[in-house]
Amino acid sequence: DWNSENVIETQVALIRKQIGTSRVICGLSGGVDSAVAAALVHKAVGDQLVCIFVDHGLLRQDERRQVEEDYVRITGIRLVTVDVREQFLTALAGVSDPETKRKIIGREFIRTFEQAERDLVAEADADGQPIKFLVQGTLYPDVVESGGGSGTANIKSHHNVGGLPDDLQFELVEPLRALFKDEVRAIGRELGLPHEIVGRQPFPGPGLGIRIVGDITQERLDLLRKADAIVRFELTAAGLDDEIWQCPVVLLADVRSVGVMGDGRTYGHPIVLRPVSSEDAMTADWTRLPYDVLAKISNRITNEVAGVNRVVLDVTSKPPGTIEWE
Ligand code: XMP
Repeated sequence: DWNSENVIETQVALIRKQIGTSRVICGLSGGVDSAVAAALVHKAVGDQLVCIFVDHGLLRQDERRQVEEDYVRITGIRLVTVDVREQFLTALAGVSDPETKRKIIGREFIRTFEQAERDLVAEADADGQPIKFLVQGTLYPDVVESGGGSGTANIKSHHNVGGLPDDLQFELVEPLRALFKDEVRAIGRELGLPHEIVGRQPFPGPGLGIRIVGDITQERLDLLRKADAIVRFELTAAGLDDEIWQCPVVLLADVRSVGVMGDGRTYGHPIVLRPVSSEDAMTADWTRLPYDVLAKISNRITNEVAGVNRVVLDVTSKPPGTIEWE
């Protein structure tokens, strides 16, 4: 019978056996899987583990702080943050095609991660303590998905944090390989991780970059981050987190419409709300949010986020829509 304490004990023993006295690294995305995987490995081998967190500037409000402060305080994990916000803005300047954005973000991410890896490897070698292992937060459904024959066309080029190069020089440590998401959350709670991390809804690797329809600029990212934070706050305050699989908030940066504010005309951008209910993200239905919650969100965004004068609701199921707009 399943019990998170037993799983933790078993995994800690297995991880210790696999890693021995070597060093190990892990990429943290801010998501629940990598956070729980790293916490388990840390419990097993302590400071033999170093984590890498890439701030590419496409993160949600408060995400970096949650990892750097809350997560590190609770786990005691050694963390290296790589700040490449400028590099990503430059690489993405003027790009509005979704697949091109995804490719650039994926490429820059891997480059950044590998450079951070090389730096840590050099440091560890100098200490005579080579890094031999890499932690991945692979779950059981990921194992099944990549093993099963795929009849589905590649609709979007998914990119996952820590995406693996072909010439991997590390042995993988995958302590969540036998687990489902709800089990991973239970383990995270048992390990004392904060609700903001353990209860987190899915968020795509390319982050806010694929939630701006149009090209990506600093101003647009800041605007979207504000709107997204309002939506998340209000959905949580209304107790709706468990009903919603995720709720992308999308900025239509290439669209403007006329509005009125006080005595003046405005000419601003729409924000799209995309709340969906789903079991596995393969199919989804739009969530029937209560009107008063929608009204509150709409009022707050149009009042508090400069440049936005309209909030619209996406009422498309998947298929034919995808969950993300890009
Ligand atoms: P779509 O838009 O294809 O999204 O219906 C299905 C699920 O996948 C997430 N998603 C991604 N996750 N890297 C990720 O790690 C990606 O590039 C990516 N693109 C979409 C999306 O948020 C939804 O949960």
